[in-house]
Amino acid sequence: MALEKENILIVDDDLNILELLQRQLHLLNYHVYKAVSVKEAVYILKDTSIQLLITDLKMPEIDGMELLKFTTEHFPHLPKLVISGYPSIQDSLLAIKSGAVVFLNKPFTKEELKEAIEKTFHTKQKQEVENELKKNDHTYGDMIGKSNSIDTVIQVIERVKDNRATIFIHGENGTGKELVARSIHYQGKYAHFPFITVNCGAIPENLLESELFGYVKGAFTGADSNRDGFFQAAKGGTIFLDEIGNASMSVQNRLLRVLQEKEVMKLGSQKIEKLDIRIITATNSNLKEQVANGSFREDLYYRLTVVEIKVPPLRERKEDIPLLVDKFILKYGLEYKDRFIKIDHDALEVLMRYDWPGNIRELENVIQRAVIMSNKSIGIADLPESLKYTIDFPREDFVSLKEMEKRYIIKVLNSTDNNKTKAAEILKIDRKTLRQKLND
Ligand SMILES: Nc1ncnc2c1ncn2[C@@H]1O[C@H](COP(=O)(O)OP(=O)(O)OP(=O)(O)O)[C@@H](O)[C@H]1O
Ligand SMILES: [Mg+2]
Repeated sequence: MALEKENILIVDDDLNILELLQRQLHLLNYHVYKAVSVKEAVYILKDTSIQLLITDLKMPEIDGMELLKFTTEHFPHLPKLVISGYPSIQDSLLAIKSGAVVFLNKPFTKEELKEAIEKTFHTKQKQEVENELKKNDHTYGDMIGKSNSIDTVIQVIERVKDNRATIFIHGENGTGKELVARSIHYQGKYAHFPFITVNCGAIPENLLESELFGYVKGAFTGADSNRDGFFQAAKGGTIFLDEIGNASMSVQNRLLRVLQEKEVMKLGSQKIEKLDIRIITATNSNLKEQVANGSFREDLYYRLTVVEIKVPPLRERKEDIPLLVDKFILKYGLEYKDRFIKIDHDALEVLMRYDWPGNIRELENVIQRAVIMSNKSIGIADLPESLKYTIDFPREDFVSLKEMEKRYIIKVLNSTDNNKTKAAEILKIDRKTLRQKLND
């Protein structure tokens, strides 16, 4: 997807090839610069903004390999495509070492040229994304963050990843509980064994037991063969029981037995199977409250919470927002626009001010949408309205509706540079009402 007309420099000592390439590239809607020697190419590169270099290898005087080396050193971000009549394997290797990205053999069709150019841009971009991600040292596997609270989470993961202690993860919606569970498994030494996720809230209660523990033929009507459950499937690895608060009493009873005896029995069977497995559970509900009201077994609760990890809400680690925004922009920029997208300073400010009740998942959705909506960079206009007029006060600091209304009006006024007409328009009230509400 060529969004703007890109400048391509073609270098070949063969004038016929230069002409042919130029014609083909014009048809493909590129802007073309020509050079018949490396010297000439270097002059053009120094004076012009070139987005792609296409060069021959074999040329008299200085050959193409030297040009590749030169550009890799002086223009490290310039994607390079090599066209060559008869490249030897040594030549190809050398060219790649010198920074070439893609090869195209002569003769070629317009379609082949088009494909090679797209591949060159794409490979280069992929490399840049990878470098960009590597450069950012605030990562732990797929997790990003530099806040103290994320550091604490990572430290706990480091301590538990190589043993089979039972772990309990809690936190609000979208804070990254599942990602934490995955990180524990995939950073640890049992990573090559299975990681099985079971959403205890998504499987109908009457099926959950047989899904988890498996069954033998005849255990219940319809059980016409032996079947493994998730526990057997996770052998050697990790079973992640998400939304554990939704597990029924009978599942809880069986789980307790698994934890006490480190063994499982299939439904309808007396045969005991030993288990080498790590159990991670997670919830965003208040399990303690469930213990208090009797819907969750207290003894199970204590068995499950040997190691507890609290994943903090995003509003308590706002310093992580720019890093997360960068990550999601890179991801969705490439997915939807095939290029890098920037974010305006004031748009980032709006993101920093917002409270993020849906946490990282909400942030990811907002960025995904903004990337799709954006032109050159993400601006305030690409963000949902609901983000722009947030009210800053601590969650626990409840106020009357009237007071909240007033704070909201002030917020909108601030964002319109005190333009009452505009503010009234946004609030869908008239100016008189606005004034009244402010004076109340
Ligand atoms: N620290 C992080 N760095 C990068 N991406 C993250 C981080 N935490 C969460 N995410 C991303 O945010 C999204 C939500 O994370 P996840 O599904 O793990 O949250 P959750 O707490 O399990 O949510 P829910 O309560 O809704 O089940 C995922 O796409 C995940 O990859
Ligand atoms: Mg989850």
